[in-house]
Amino acid sequence: MTILRAFILLFIFELLPSTSLNLAPSSLLETAIRSAYVAGNLMTSATASDKGVEVTKLNKKDLLTKIDPLCEEAIKKTILARFPDHLILGEESVEPGPSASSMALSSFLEKSRATKKPLWIIDPIDGTTNFVHDLRYSAPSVACCVNGEVVVGCVFDPYANETFWAVKNEGAFLNGERISVKPEACLEDSVIAMGAPPGKLSASKSIKGFEGLLPKVRTIRMLGSAALMLGWVACGRLNCYWEWDLSSWDVAAGGLIVEEAGGRMRGLEEDTLKFDVSERKIIADDGKCGNDVREVLKESGLF
Ligand code: IPD
Ligand code: CA
Ligand code: CA
Repeated sequence: MTILRAFILLFIFELLPSTSLNLAPSSLLETAIRSAYVAGNLMTSATASDKGVEVTKLNKKDLLTKIDPLCEEAIKKTILARFPDHLILGEESVEPGPSASSMALSSFLEKSRATKKPLWIIDPIDGTTNFVHDLRYSAPSVACCVNGEVVVGCVFDPYANETFWAVKNEGAFLNGERISVKPEACLEDSVIAMGAPPGKLSASKSIKGFEGLLPKVRTIRMLGSAALMLGWVACGRLNCYWEWDLSSWDVAAGGLIVEEAGGRMRGLEEDTLKFDVSERKIIADDGKCGNDVREVLKESGLF
């Protein structure tokens, strides 16, 4: 582990009070970050052949390498070593496709409510296509929910050595520095990110949205990791990120990071007042341009 990473873990113990949650947020956060580092190390030490596509999932655009399940196992092991009775929902333990993903989330949330056990939601590698093609923009994403609400989230970019994290009501941080969104007054000066999702319907919605938005904004980026694009909205590199069909593991950690950085994480079609991890169509923004982006998407016939 680099000195920076060791410092970040030490810093957390100093940073957070242990009173605002039943479970000390510092220990949840420390575990989230530690587990993301374990997965990040597996990613950066993977060889070219490790990064080969083992199988495709939903279709030829939805990839799985042998490192994805290894990262998932490593994250789970790290969490369970600290919290043996907590529940964990991981992408690679669920059948591919939106309905399996939604059903798995509902059943885990239900179980978490009934047993009063925290639920961890993890994406072992968010941005597997980037990982396969060596595009160096992918990240493990680890979040913990208490009473159905995300209270801790960490997204770790092992290539840039950037650790984004947030704790409910305690703020959002990047490598130990507090971060906040940077609101852009007008849409035409805004940089918008979006997804290039694997599903047919979501791809056609994305194309329509791209066509409507491009003439009206400074530029559009499709960077290939939902979790990292959310981190980038939170620290002001992007003004907005929207995507038509995401799963809870793509957005659980990043959504909290955006909100704690002063941004908004909402449903795309209907204005949800606060971030709901079950929402599959999302828009995250700097607190300013999201309404205009939404209007353009509406005019473009998305909803
Ligand atoms: C994908 C990434 C990508 C988004 C896709 C997701 P994965 O996650 O977040 O940016 O556009 O919709 O499925 O499959 O690499 O974990
Ligand atoms: Ca993902
Ligand atoms: Ca993934």
